Amino acid sequence: MCGIVGYTGMRPAVPFLMNGLRRLEYRGYDSAGVALQAGEGLLLEKQAGKVQGLADALTERASVDLDGSVCGIAHTRWATHGPPTQNNAHPHLSKERIALVHNGIIENHNSLRERLRADGYEFLSETDTEVLAHLVESHYEGDLLVALTAALKEVQGTFGVACISAEEPGVLIVARRGSPIVIGLGEDETIVASDASAIIKHTRQVIYLDDNDVARIVAGDVEIRTLDSTPVSRATSEIDWSADAAEKGGYEHYMLKEIFEQPETIRNTIRGRLDSDRGTAILSGLNLEARDLADIQRMLVVGCGTSMNAGMVGEYAVEDFAGFPAEVEQAAEFRYRNPIVGSKDLVIAISQSGETADTLAAVREAKDKGATVVGLVNVVGSTIARETGRGVYLHAGPEISVASTKAFTSQVSVLLMIALKFARSRRMSRERGMEFVREIEALPLLVEKVLEQNDRIAKVAEQFADFENAFYIGRGYMYPVALEGALKLKEISYIHAEGYHAAELKHGPIALLQDNVPVVALLNHGPGKDKTLGNVAECQARSAPILGIITEGDEEARSCVDSYIEVPYAPLHAAVIPATVALQLFSYHVARLRGCAIDQPRNLAKSVTVE
Ligand code: AGP
Repeated sequence: MCGIVGYTGMRPAVPFLMNGLRRLEYRGYDSAGVALQAGEGLLLEKQAGKVQGLADALTERASVDLDGSVCGIAHTRWATHGPPTQNNAHPHLSKERIALVHNGIIENHNSLRERLRADGYEFLSETDTEVLAHLVESHYEGDLLVALTAALKEVQGTFGVACISAEEPGVLIVARRGSPIVIGLGEDETIVASDASAIIKHTRQVIYLDDNDVARIVAGDVEIRTLDSTPVSRATSEIDWSADAAEKGGYEHYMLKEIFEQPETIRNTIRGRLDSDRGTAILSGLNLEARDLADIQRMLVVGCGTSMNAGMVGEYAVEDFAGFPAEVEQAAEFRYRNPIVGSKDLVIAISQSGETADTLAAVREAKDKGATVVGLVNVVGSTIARETGRGVYLHAGPEISVASTKAFTSQVSVLLMIALKFARSRRMSRERGMEFVREIEALPLLVEKVLEQNDRIAKVAEQFADFENAFYIGRGYMYPVALEGALKLKEISYIHAEGYHAAELKHGPIALLQDNVPVVALLNHGPGKDKTLGNVAECQARSAPILGIITEGDEEARSCVDSYIEVPYAPLHAAVIPATVALQLFSYHVARLRGCAIDQPRNLAKSVTVE
């Protein structure tokens, strides 16, 4: 997820662009840049690192052209293709006459790049966006709206785009498919951005483009067409958020925003990585061919916190579907206990930040012992991504809230794809593989069904906000969900919540149960449900209030609990995700009712870079 800003009007563009980038920096902070129509051409400045580095560079470069420019585009990057270097920073130029910024993923960038190279275009970066800049230039005959439209019709994937030409003063072209573009309407000026937080300071009158819209903007005039060049009009809306709320997309906290982003972030995670015809996963970043997979005798997953909980789901899925040994281990424990690991092992390091010291140490230990090590990382170019040298990026966008939510569901989505890939290289049939692909593709819809219950879950949370202790119990795939649900409640509401295997409670912890110690029971349909219902009865015999996470329509489970949250039916390996999202919302509302600092809980940091 990146931040895009554009301006065209009667006043200097740079202040609008830079203030906009600062408001959007939460969307990505790997690098930043601006391109301006200045004098007879385009002026470009871009820097790796945060927006302030760009501001410093512009200060040093201050010139009449810079200050006199009234039309430009700017970008703060969240890297998806190519590490966060200056060359990979946006804007990208083509032949000094087209400048472009982009938010999204161009899936067919390789084939387009080869064709453009053959046509003589030289590439300075590793990004998919530079491909689009040259593609626009290849269609340019003096009308940028026409050229961008033609280029985007060749693109597969998602985009939020802003571009300018050296030959069309004051003209700003924007387009969107899957990545938002908002147009802010001023008196005799227009500012565009990825979201309202960069606009709200200047105007509250906005137009939200629809997918496959392209707009030509000159000062206060906006002309919108579809990609097939049909003129359309889009309603003007009034932003009724505060500037601070706008950064959070209108949500009260980043955590809630990131919980609600999950249908989209899971789509971004799986996009281009499933082959529905062959019933398998395409994870080229693993750099593991079928013969390599055949040589692997065991999968080890290392991680911390939420990432470790996601890894447990991967352990279960790989053993379940691929039929070979897998295990998950807390990264620090793995690193210090002299593990037995070697060349026949695949070690998967899971880390949202890619900077967790314990996980990085485990990566180095596994490499020293000759294992094949890959990373499941969200932050492109992070230390773990670089030191593993191969893996699968989550493409979940920046996760700002300390409590990890969308990273977990993206991690599980990738792990299910890894299990599928391994399974299909062994005993899984093509038909079952095709069914498995459909089960993964259905995940965003499952999450949307849970999100629709947000208000009801908030009501359920009211019954639990005053407790100081809680247990979460589950079996099978729902055991890591119990661990993750308990972690979420612990870290943002400060309630002492413990995740336990449902069968383990009676081996000691049940001594703690009484009427002020609730139990959250994962009661999804499946082989573990009846036994877990038995455990629930044992808890109720000790007066513990029971919250059941149940499969929708399950009257039996509903009758056995004191309150419940229903999740849509799905095979258990897939049901992990909607059940976890239900518990994310539950913990969020409990913490909100307790008045906690949800996005920055006490004592915590987003990335634990110390051992
Ligand atoms: C999860 O909500 C916590 N913020 C924490 O457990 C986190 O998952 C853990 O520190 C690992 O971080 P990483 O994924 O960036 O490596």
